[in-house]
Amino acid sequence: MKVIIVGNGGREHTLAWKILQSDSVEKVFCIPGNGGTANLPNCQNINLKMNDFDGIAQACHHHQVSLVIVGPELPLSQGIADRLKEKNIPVFGPDKKGAQIEASKSWAKQLMVEAGIPTAASAGFTDKNAAIAYLKSKSAPIVVKADGLAAGKGVIVATTIEEAIKAVENLFENNYCQLLIEEFLEGEEVSILAVTDGITIRPLIPAQDHKRIGEGDTGKNTGGMGAYAPAPIVTPELMKTIETTILQPTLDTLKKRGIDYRGILYAGLMIDKQGKAKVLEFNCRFGDPETQAVLPLLKTPLDELILACVEQRLAQLPTIKWHSQTAICVVAASGGYPDVYAKGLSITGIESAESIGVTVFHAGTDIQNNQLVTSGGRVLGVTAVGENFAKASSLVYEAIQEIKFEGIYYRQDIGHKVKNKA
Ligand code: AMP
Ligand code: GLY
Repeated sequence: MKVIIVGNGGREHTLAWKILQSDSVEKVFCIPGNGGTANLPNCQNINLKMNDFDGIAQACHHHQVSLVIVGPELPLSQGIADRLKEKNIPVFGPDKKGAQIEASKSWAKQLMVEAGIPTAASAGFTDKNAAIAYLKSKSAPIVVKADGLAAGKGVIVATTIEEAIKAVENLFENNYCQLLIEEFLEGEEVSILAVTDGITIRPLIPAQDHKRIGEGDTGKNTGGMGAYAPAPIVTPELMKTIETTILQPTLDTLKKRGIDYRGILYAGLMIDKQGKAKVLEFNCRFGDPETQAVLPLLKTPLDELILACVEQRLAQLPTIKWHSQTAICVVAASGGYPDVYAKGLSITGIESAESIGVTVFHAGTDIQNNQLVTSGGRVLGVTAVGENFAKASSLVYEAIQEIKFEGIYYRQDIGHKVKNKA
């Protein structure tokens, strides 16, 4: 089988690496891919834009590709799955209607309310003055969310009402004219990536990522500075509750709306002190960098899992199998990220890091004049697997020291919330 993976991040490098381990997968094409996928055996980058759906469909026919896996939310929300399905190309990822679960926070919230899913109480606004008047009747902390995709910049957790009002003004100035004001939830965040064929839904192992740039989860939000799996805060009992009170009812409600959702449903949850889970957000795709920590532990061949979803026979697939180990991914970022940073800096030490026993997934890398260089804010995701958290952690931090590029920055505390590390 030949597979196309759409995207150019660490998540897509991980998907390509993992699916190539399946005996039945002979070749992977990444559109457009990155420096890591360019060098992966049996993998080839195709230089097309992710929104060039006709070009992608042509590449499928030209290379006799029988499965497309879509990484990022943007092409999904623009209808890549709809277009490929029209041309009878099997695709893993929801269609445009289903992708609204990530692309429109108010749409997702309405769905949650309709399905009776535990989530923060909220109110929707399209009028700035009404939003401000509402805020004046509330107390902080409080959360302001822009409705559409905003590349991680659309959520403001305000610690004062003045800050929340400023956030509302800013969003309207930047043409985000639909927003949600939401109750602040306290607790620990986890990411549940679940695979679904539109009828059945099964969670992968729980993961936790670290969105803030600074140690101790401080500073600005980023795309994610590291992740680990499984996250022990999600006990098997809690996972069962998440399945029955969040995942299945969400899928059933999507179905009721006429949406045939085949792909990943990613639930971003807040777990409170009593161990109760509430939904912060849904995403319509694999998490990044959660994927870099989850997939290395997957024993069931990835192509079998994905095809069972695409062909709507997930219920017949045996239980998903996992290695009983822990995986940690630490993101090496460009100095200055998530603000301005330099690009085109040469990267060394990957082979030497890998010789210590880690896998280095590329996120923002490129090859220029035969030299691997930085091309994004998050550059690499160094991933270690160990028999427990402590072993995986010491391995990842030993190996990452081998990697060098000017200004390299990574957090030293990925997984700091794990209590029992042995
Ligand atoms: P979202 O894109 O909705 O997941 O929001 C991004 C981040 O903002 C989340 O990962 C949380 O850290 C934070 N956040 C979102 N909603 C809430 C909430 N209701 N209470 C507390 N924090 C939140
Ligand atoms: N790691 C967060 C996300 O993928 O949205």
